[in-house]
Amino acid sequence: MNRARRWSAAAALLLAAASVLPGCGPRRGGRAEPARADSSFAAVTYRRDKSPEALSLARGRVLYDRYCAICHGEAGGGDGFNAYNVKAAFDVSPTAFTDSVTFGALREDTALAAIRDGGPAVGRSPAMPPWGHTLTAGEVVDVWAYIKALSRAAPGE
Ligand code: HEC
Repeated sequence: MNRARRWSAAAALLLAAASVLPGCGPRRGGRAEPARADSSFAAVTYRRDKSPEALSLARGRVLYDRYCAICHGEAGGGDGFNAYNVKAAFDVSPTAFTDSVTFGALREDTALAAIRDGGPAVGRSPAMPPWGHTLTAGEVVDVWAYIKALSRAAPGE
């Protein structure tokens, strides 16, 4: 009899503990699960500055690094890994965006058209490929915003 009562008391305790424990989880404080760590440039910038300009720059950087840096260079010096081959095959160098004279002679609408439709669309070399099938209109603006930031110079009017 005594023994049975002890067991049922233990069982009751266990039940009570089981019903309390889930309450100790993250739900109690109304807090959501912590976000997964994401150290990408876009994520870091997003956390620090959520302005549309910062977001555009962050997206532009990812696109630039993926599609443009190979020719135009990581820092925009016109000296990407593929610049040598472009020069050898087309006798033209990828534009150096960090060269303030070159950049100052580049009009914004021409640059946007070149990015979208390729060099020949603006009377330049076909070594500059068209990106309008790869990038959306918004992404073209994003990547151009990043190029302007890289160059630290104002484009021509
Ligand atoms: C295969 C190499 C290559 C890649 C990749 C490339 N470019 Fe170019 N780009 C060139 C070359 C070469 C020129 C210079 C053409 C000339 O002066 O005739 C150029 C010129 C430009 C110009 C200046 C156009 C003008 O009117 O003078 C812009 C802006 C530009 N590229 C943006 C980009 C962007 C943005 C990307 C990535 C989305 C990109 N390029 C990827 C080779 C490349």
